[in-house]
Amino acid sequence: MSQATNQSWGGRFSEPTDAFVARFTASVTFDQRLARQDIQGSIAHATMLARVGVLTDDERDTIINGLTEIQGEIERGEFNWSIPLEDVHMNIEARLTDKIGITGKKLHTGRSRNDQVATDIRLFMRDEIDVIEAELVRLREGMIELADREADTIMPGFTHLQTAQPVTFGHHLLAWQEMLTRDHERLLDCRKRVNVMPLGAAALAGTTYPIDRHVTAELLGFDRPAENSLDAVSDRDFAIEFTSFASILLMHLSRMSEELVLWTSAQFDFIDLPDRFCTGSSIMPQKKNPDVPELVRGKTGRVYGHLMALLTLMKSQPLAYNKDNQEDKEPLFDAVDTVRDCLKAFADMVPAIEPKKDSMYEAARRGFSTATDLADYLVRKGVAFRDAHEIVGQSVAYGLKTKKDLSEMTLEELQQFSATIGQDVFEVLTLEGSVAARNHIGGTAPDQVRAAASRASEALAALKGDA
Ligand code: ARG
Repeated sequence: MSQATNQSWGGRFSEPTDAFVARFTASVTFDQRLARQDIQGSIAHATMLARVGVLTDDERDTIINGLTEIQGEIERGEFNWSIPLEDVHMNIEARLTDKIGITGKKLHTGRSRNDQVATDIRLFMRDEIDVIEAELVRLREGMIELADREADTIMPGFTHLQTAQPVTFGHHLLAWQEMLTRDHERLLDCRKRVNVMPLGAAALAGTTYPIDRHVTAELLGFDRPAENSLDAVSDRDFAIEFTSFASILLMHLSRMSEELVLWTSAQFDFIDLPDRFCTGSSIMPQKKNPDVPELVRGKTGRVYGHLMALLTLMKSQPLAYNKDNQEDKEPLFDAVDTVRDCLKAFADMVPAIEPKKDSMYEAARRGFSTATDLADYLVRKGVAFRDAHEIVGQSVAYGLKTKKDLSEMTLEELQQFSATIGQDVFEVLTLEGSVAARNHIGGTAPDQVRAAASRASEALAALKGDA
């Protein structure tokens, strides 16, 4: 330690750091969250140094025992985090030297905080990605199961949020499921680039010690050491990729949330959410508010914000490490927490959605949702599609005037618009007939939905944990 500054790097300094600057530049208030990964990385580093003869086996063991004790102190909340010691790395190293003396000072041989912090964040992200993946899998499993159960449940399908054609609720849920499949693939793809080891890059150029980076990589479960030392300490692409994944996922969850909010309203009345996912109003006794989906919808914004923060953080940064990069942690930590909590909320809530089948069915009957089926029927009888479109348009106008759905009109009423219409038209005008007729891969027919749900289950089983 320097006499003038009391800092581990203070040898060349002649006065202490300004007290405000010390606080301004310190990261320990938030990066202490990396303590477990910092110790994990240090144990692997010390093990490798002993393997190549830079440390003796005794020194290695002393260091590892000291670090293990420190881990215990941190877990028990007994560790005294110090702002003058700047960050998690120097706090732990200083404590190690307190405990084991001079040997503690040998741990930092052949590394720098630059490769150390990059390694810690990657270890942290890998752990968090695995937790997030588990929640995503749980959500997908619950959603597929619900889709299979609701394969026959009929609801209106919308375009422009206007009634378009009847679909099955299971089909709608499997549309959500497709969004989540892509998110799942993106997460696992991101994990591949997270799982590369910066350690050994040292400050920026590598180190003069005879380190073996393959040993450290293997000890830490990394796929490989990073190829280039300059890139290794400066690359934060993986953080941007994770927040991109997170932004797209939250965009999807916000769309689902919006639909859930609409569907619980008295005007739609398509579903009920169990009370445990809702709250009341302090003034309006009748209210039951869908807080969970509303909040997920709202949290989307902060995750987009973190993506923008990280992109902007990295913009124009010259090689290699810059102190700017200390700013990567808070957005990343918050993105991780937000994604994990939103997925947990959804994984708990989705299987508990209670569809109000009669109400969905009634809504599908209103709004002339089988008008396209009538046009297709006329085409099958030889009418040109454009003419069929016109005939059905006139029938709808009549229905609006008389307040009747197409299926509620008599054959005579329908024949006013085309003599081609026969008794068999009523088969296509029913909602059941309409959905069952869309019987091809990707279509809304109940049998197709059941087949799609079973394919989705198989694909999920094959994908999960596939990192
Ligand atoms: N606290 C720093 C960070 O989070 C650790 C690396 C600091 N390196 C340095 N040369 N100042 O990025």
